[in-house]
Amino acid sequence: MNNIVVFFIFSFLLPLSYAIEFDFCVGDPTLPKSPNGYACKDPANVTIDDFVFTGFYENKVTTKNKYKSNVILAFADTFPALNGLGISKLKEEIDVGGVIPAHTHRTSEILVVIKGTILIGFIDTNNTAYYKRLKKGEVIVIPPTMIHFQVNVGPTPAIAYASFNGANPGIQVVSSALFASNVPADLIAKTTLLSPQEVKRMKLIFGSA
Ligand SMILES: *[C@@H]1O[C@H](CO)[C@@H](O)[C@H](O)[C@H]1NC(C)=O
Ligand SMILES: *[C@@H]1O[C@H](CO)[C@@H](O)[C@H](O)[C@H]1NC(C)=O
Repeated sequence: MNNIVVFFIFSFLLPLSYAIEFDFCVGDPTLPKSPNGYACKDPANVTIDDFVFTGFYENKVTTKNKYKSNVILAFADTFPALNGLGISKLKEEIDVGGVIPAHTHRTSEILVVIKGTILIGFIDTNNTAYYKRLKKGEVIVIPPTMIHFQVNVGPTPAIAYASFNGANPGIQVVSSALFASNVPADLIAKTTLLSPQEVKRMKLIFGSA
């Protein structure tokens, strides 16, 4: 390989990898974000506490909402040490009869159930659904961008932890995108074939009527 080819290869690699310059880049969420994440906090001010996330304590989880579930995100926004590392995590608790609504994100997900029984599945681009009841200790992987969902099908609350191959997976809930957004009701009805009455009912549930 001649030098000019080597130069071009490295000029593409460098902006994608701070690892050549730094051991880590704890994000500073007060600074503007770029497609590569946040700018680095001054390493002189980084401490061990930057690398520890304490948000998963049991008593912070409540399930008093319409899905009877709660999710705590350890993503780069809430855990800035993840900035640029391409990984993140969440904890979820689903009350008896509760659900994690159908949603999608940019990254793959690998989830382990640590309490209860959860029916979890995804739908591929051929509209084929893959779903199964998982119990404590079982693990499922969800490929990136697939619409997926979970239902607590057991008699007790369920808890699971999920990991992602991105510091900011970008969660988009299908029904919120349609009914909690500012898309006008007539556009939703036209583009989904739902009746205006059904759209109105859903917008009322999501507080955007
Ligand atoms: C680092 O910490 C020192 C002492 O707390 C503070 O004066 C300084 O502004 C901080 N630097 C940055 C870039 O935050
Ligand atoms: C796609 O869906 C159709 C209809 O359900 C099914 O017959 C077919 O096997 C699916 N193809 C793949 C590749 O999954």
